Amino acid sequence: MTTQYLALYDAAPTEEKYPLVQKWMKTEPLPFFKQLREERPILVTPECTLIALFTDIRDTLQMPKIFTVDLYKPKMGVTHTDPGYLMAHDDDALHYREKSLMQGMLNRDDLPGVRELIAKASAKILADAGGHIEIVNNYTRMVPAILVQDYFGLDGIDRKKLLKWSYWNQYNTFHNQPFDLNSKALYDDIIKNHAECSTELVDYMKVLMVRKLLTVKIKDRILGQAITGINLLRTLFKKEPFMLKDDIVKRMLRSSFSDHVDFPLTRIGVNAGGLLIGAVETTSQAVSQVIEYLIQRPELLTQAKAASRDTDTAKIDGMVWEALRFVPISPYMFRQASQDYTVAKGTAHETTIKAGTNVLTLTQSAMFDPYAYDDPDNFNAERNWYHHFNYGFASHDCLGKYIGMVMIPEMVRQVLKLDNLEATAPMDYKKGPFPESYELAYSANQ
Ligand code: HEM
Repeated sequence: MTTQYLALYDAAPTEEKYPLVQKWMKTEPLPFFKQLREERPILVTPECTLIALFTDIRDTLQMPKIFTVDLYKPKMGVTHTDPGYLMAHDDDALHYREKSLMQGMLNRDDLPGVRELIAKASAKILADAGGHIEIVNNYTRMVPAILVQDYFGLDGIDRKKLLKWSYWNQYNTFHNQPFDLNSKALYDDIIKNHAECSTELVDYMKVLMVRKLLTVKIKDRILGQAITGINLLRTLFKKEPFMLKDDIVKRMLRSSFSDHVDFPLTRIGVNAGGLLIGAVETTSQAVSQVIEYLIQRPELLTQAKAASRDTDTAKIDGMVWEALRFVPISPYMFRQASQDYTVAKGTAHETTIKAGTNVLTLTQSAMFDPYAYDDPDNFNAERNWYHHFNYGFASHDCLGKYIGMVMIPEMVRQVLKLDNLEATAPMDYKKGPFPESYELAYSANQ
């Protein structure tokens, strides 16, 4: 029998309304969202306002000055004197400038090499584990940390520290908001842990910047001259030129910007730190949830295992993206209204959202809206990618999305290639927002 969510919601006392909504979003999002789309596409709760339809969500996310990321500001270092991180800025000069510069640095031509790096690192961890692995701490967090070190260039540091910094930053920013309803003690504790991590990260970034700057300025100059001579000869013999060893931090430091571009060393450091924060916990959650989703569905698992052995990765990639529609890393993105605004004007559900209201755009609901998805409850690995919200949408869409689009499926693929794969204990969130442990077994020595 279908639960009558809205009837239960309407009958609940005021203080119990949003906790009910929160529980349904966590435990039974799909039928709850379906009822919202059909009966109350905009639900105004005492805590925040939920938007459930594809078209309204797309509209809302396209107006960053009206539906702002102000809730990110205290979490991302924004003060009167410090602009903090680009993600906490809405459609202004800093966001536009730094996002585009960073998009250029993360050159999409690198992606085949990134996929290879991920494949090798993943296969090695799984082979070394010898047939049994707790994947969250040893694999789903570890592989993106290797990417952060080897490709982004945040090296010379214990990987466990990188994991800790990403973890508390993500926890505080995305799971310690008013609508998370955390107890005061937990709320304070998360803020304290994040603050400690930020201090450690800033100290580390300073040392890293100096070390890499010295490499770039001194070592490159000496090696660079030799390489220029050799490359002249290589061009004569139609051979590929040698390149200096590269990573994203070095790439940023080697690129020279006019002062008018306004991308000084301090901003390079902030943006390099952002790469770490964005990469680890997001990837870990996505990969572990997709693996669990497939393991729990034997028919899909058989198809996915076969697809994982194809040299063409299109099929497994499509399956992973489709699985993430069912188990996204978050069912919503949140915004805060900067002014009164009427959403869905001229429709039966037209609603004026007041300035200061926190808004949850239910992006998972949008990914099940028949407006954009035929037969949305069906698993179909060949859907139109442009309707996905797994990497956000519009001006704040994910800077790392093209990396994630090769990293996540490749990490899943390497696990699915293992023979006799099974879960030996259920995934455990340990009452927090992220997967914390998931035990897998498989045949060793493959
Ligand atoms: C691979 C490394 C990654 C990096 C460096 C990264 C970085 C970023 C950055 C900088 C933004 C903010 C962009 C802006 O405000 O304009 C962002 C947004 C976002 N990222 Fe990523 N990210 C990564 C991976 C991922 C993964 C794996 C997922 C999920 C599967 C993800 C999901 C998102 C989402 C949903 C947003 C939008 C947030 C919003 O609109 O409020 N990211 N990412």
